[in-house]
Amino acid sequence: MPVGGQEKLKILIRRAAIQKRVHEVAQQITRDFRGQRVHLIGVLKGACIFLSDLVREINLETSIDFIAVSSYGKGKQSSGQVRVLKDLDSSIEGLNVVLVEDILDTGLTLSYLLRIIQQRKPKSLRVAALLDKPSRRLKDVNGDYIGFTIPNEFVVGYGLDYAERFRNLKDVCILNLPPE
Ligand code: IMP
Repeated sequence: MPVGGQEKLKILIRRAAIQKRVHEVAQQITRDFRGQRVHLIGVLKGACIFLSDLVREINLETSIDFIAVSSYGKGKQSSGQVRVLKDLDSSIEGLNVVLVEDILDTGLTLSYLLRIIQQRKPKSLRVAALLDKPSRRLKDVNGDYIGFTIPNEFVVGYGLDYAERFRNLKDVCILNLPPE
């Protein structure tokens, strides 16, 4: 992967480890919802690759939808303000919803999403996140299914971006940028 100037990528979680963990998380969801249907809601764009892999490992009746929110500008810092850019396509009333996130960081996005999704009366609501950076949390929210807990580093790959780049990396990598 070409990286510009002094940008440096360092592998944090390898593709094989991600695959193994995604399978385990899917098995857990399959056990928890045995005999029921689950409705996965992916938070665009970061969660699209995680959701695609996860849903194919879940051994239940499933349906999927997507919601897009923006809380980050072009850089690494959260603006702290969450906006819905693309809403759900269909009602979730009475469904077992699993909200699928790429990463839980400050928790601002998740706490906003939990609030607006809960208002739509799902039967149950759980959160799956590939990555969790608990040291950065500003809101008291947590995931029910966490792939990996990671240190306070800015990561890219497997759906996660920096200014829309690097989503296609197969590994999750730490991105080091030259000081501004
Ligand atoms: P939060 O609202 O601070 O929890 O941020 C959640 C969103 O910020 C995630 O869904 C990501 O899109 C983005 N984000 C947070 N940390 C990172 C990171 O390390 N790399 C890439 N995106 C991140």
